[in-house]
Parts: sequence; structure tokens; C-alpha cells
Amino acid sequence: MDVPETMRAMRISGHGGPEVLEPAEVAVPTPAAGEVLVRVGAVALNNTDLWTREGAYGRPGDPAALSGWRGPIDFPRVQGADVAGRVVAVGPGGDEGLVGRRVVVDPAIYDGEGPDANPVGLMGSERDGGYAEFVTAPAARVHDMTDSPLTDDQLAALPVAYGTALGMIERGGLREGETALVSGASGGVGLALVQIARARGARVLAISSGSKSEAVREAGAHEVVDRAAGTLARLGAVAPDGIDVALDVVAGELLSDGLPLLREGGRWVVAGALGGYEVTFDVRRLYLHNTRVIGSTMHTPGHFDLLMELARRAAVRPVIAAAFPLREAARAQRELARRDHVGKIVLHP
Ligand SMILES: NC(=O)c1ccc[n+]([C@@H]2O[C@H](COP(=O)([O-])OP(=O)(O)OC[C@H]3O[C@@H](n4cnc5c(N)ncnc54)[C@H](OP(=O)(O)O)[C@@H]3O)[C@@H](O)[C@H]2O)c1
Repeated sequence: MDVPETMRAMRISGHGGPEVLEPAEVAVPTPAAGEVLVRVGAVALNNTDLWTREGAYGRPGDPAALSGWRGPIDFPRVQGADVAGRVVAVGPGGDEGLVGRRVVVDPAIYDGEGPDANPVGLMGSERDGGYAEFVTAPAARVHDMTDSPLTDDQLAALPVAYGTALGMIERGGLREGETALVSGASGGVGLALVQIARARGARVLAISSGSKSEAVREAGAHEVVDRAAGTLARLGAVAPDGIDVALDVVAGELLSDGLPLLREGGRWVVAGALGGYEVTFDVRRLYLHNTRVIGSTMHTPGHFDLLMELARRAAVRPVIAAAFPLREAARAQRELARRDHVGKIVLHP
């Protein structure tokens, strides 16, 4: 394919509301040595897009500071971590055989080589992302999905939500036959947790709200508890023997009050704080039962390889809630912020 010189991108030039997302005609990036150029087929939205735009991550010692998740953002920045598309060019000396392959980009920037490296940066935050017609990525971070039965929309839904979910499940050591609790279960990460935990042979208890509960059940949850009122009592009733692994993106009171739900040796894995980030709990409930609270961000290269294996055989099937043209990125982000949807919202360049 002939690569044009310029492309349409949606960029942010500072922190703020959805209105800071502006269309721009910019140069198509040139892949450096070791990189490829991907024509974006679909880019999925994540909460991190909203938080990065708003600068809502705070800083150590200054929780109210405007900041990206790893510190200051270099503006202008093209957002978008979740890209599926086709390789259209490779950097100098690169493998020309990649051209034409349908790929998913692992958006993580790692702190080292090897399968257990930690993510310390993200496409769309520490480098330009996929709210654009083209994006560059390290060749080592693109995964060939040409033969996957999943659509581009479904592939784009995988990296952050499913990568985060698989990272939580792996770090929590969830095993077949164990009981898992999933909070925020109708969301992007939550539905991924439900699907992967179920595929792993766990008994899945989910917390969701109102009309979204049916979709969570369809995704594989054995029991869905409404988060409106009396959640803990209901959980106690559906899991009288307790929970092995909590997979939690809500934290807040759920973690403060819910910790005693863990069985002996149970694990409470936290990857989000939709319900509040300042949490207190009785540490006696932690050490007297050999339970663990585990922080989890995104995935490792090893987790991502595992995820791509699942996607190649369609062992996970992301649910797409809505698709918008790229120019309507602000509208799509508003829709995401309303949280009326079930599954992932995607943009099409
Ligand atoms: N650490 C990481 O690497 C990482 C990666 C991705 C996301 N995250 C974080 O994980 C969280 C979820 O992300 P997502 O993309 O899945 O979000 P999402 O698609 O917006 O879904 C979140 C779901 O949580 C529930 N919820 C919303 N507000 C809540 C509240 N105040 N209390 C309890 N439940 C609430 C809602 O479901 P119901 O109405 O059905 O309950 C909502 O659908 C976010 O905080 C995000 O920043 C972290």
C-alpha cells in the first residue's frame, strides 16, 4: 500500500474535558529501525484515555496533581492504546515479511527484556497512540493475528482490558475449581475477567448493576450480585465458603469491608479504584488468614503472549458495545464516561 504523507489524528494539547480532543492533520510517522508502521483498523477506548486526558492520576505525595499515570504527559499527544490493524511498512533493516500482516499491538512499554518485565509506559500516554490513521510500534510488540477469527474491533478490544484482566488472574494465581469474585463486571476489564476466569474453570461471582446483569451472566458469570445495596450480605449467601480470588477494579468500601470474604490463603487483586482509592481495613483479617492484597497493573510480555494464544483460537470473544468514526472521539469518550454500556467502545479511522 502507498503510505500518504499526512493523516488525520485526534490529539490532546493539554489536560481537560472531552473538548481538548481535537482533529489534526499531521505527518504520518516514519518507523525507526526496529519499528513497524501500522494502518489502524480499529482502536478501542479505555478508562485510561479519560484519566490521561483529564490528568486524573495524581502524583506520589500529591494525589490532586494533574498527571498522566507515569508522570507528566508530553503534549500534543495522540491518544489510544488499543490498536488492531495491518502492517504497511517496516523500519530500516526490518522484516519485510511483516508487511500486510493483521496485527494487534501490545501497547506496553516495558522496563526490560524477558517475559516478566513490568509495564512502565503506554502507547497513547508515553508515546503516540492509535486515535489516528497510522501508528508506529516496536516490531517486537506486534502480534500476528492474521488467522484469528476475531474481527478488528474484537482484536482492538484485547490489549488493555483483556491484558489487564489476564495480568490480574495470573498475579492472583486463579486456578480451576476456585471461586472468583469480579467487581465492575459489566465494564471492559470486568467482562474480560468474567470470560477468562470462566474459561479457566473457576466459579465466577460478579458484581454489576441493574439491566447490565444479564449481559454479565451471558459472558459466563455463575452468579451476579447487584451493587446497589446489601452486596456483602448477598455475596456471603452465594459464597458461604468464601472466595479464593477477588478480581477488583472498584476497591473503596468493597475492599475495606469485603476482605473477610476471602478464604484461608485467598488473594485480593486490585487494578482500579472506581469506588475510592483511600482504603482502610483490619490487618488482622489479612495476616491471621494468610491472605494477600496484590496490586496489578496491565500485563507482562508473558501474559500478553498467553492472551494472543487465547485470541488466535477465539477462546475469548470481546463484546463490542458501540463503534464511532475517529472524528467523533470526544463523543465516544463521553459515552464511555456515562458507563451505560456493556463491553468495549471502538473508533474507526
Ligand atoms: N491497573 C490497570 O492496569 C488498569 C487497566 C485498565 C483499567 N483499569 C481501571 O479499572 C477500572 C475499570 O476499567 P474499565 O475500562 O473496565 O471501566 P468501564 O468499562 O467503565 O467499567 C467499569 C464498571 O464498573 C462499574 N462501576 C462504575 N463505577 C462504579 C463505582 N463507583 N462503584 C462500583 N462499580 C462501579 C460499572 O459496572 P456496573 O454498573 O455493572 O456495576 C462499570 O461498567 C478503572 O478504574 C480503570 O482505570 C486499570
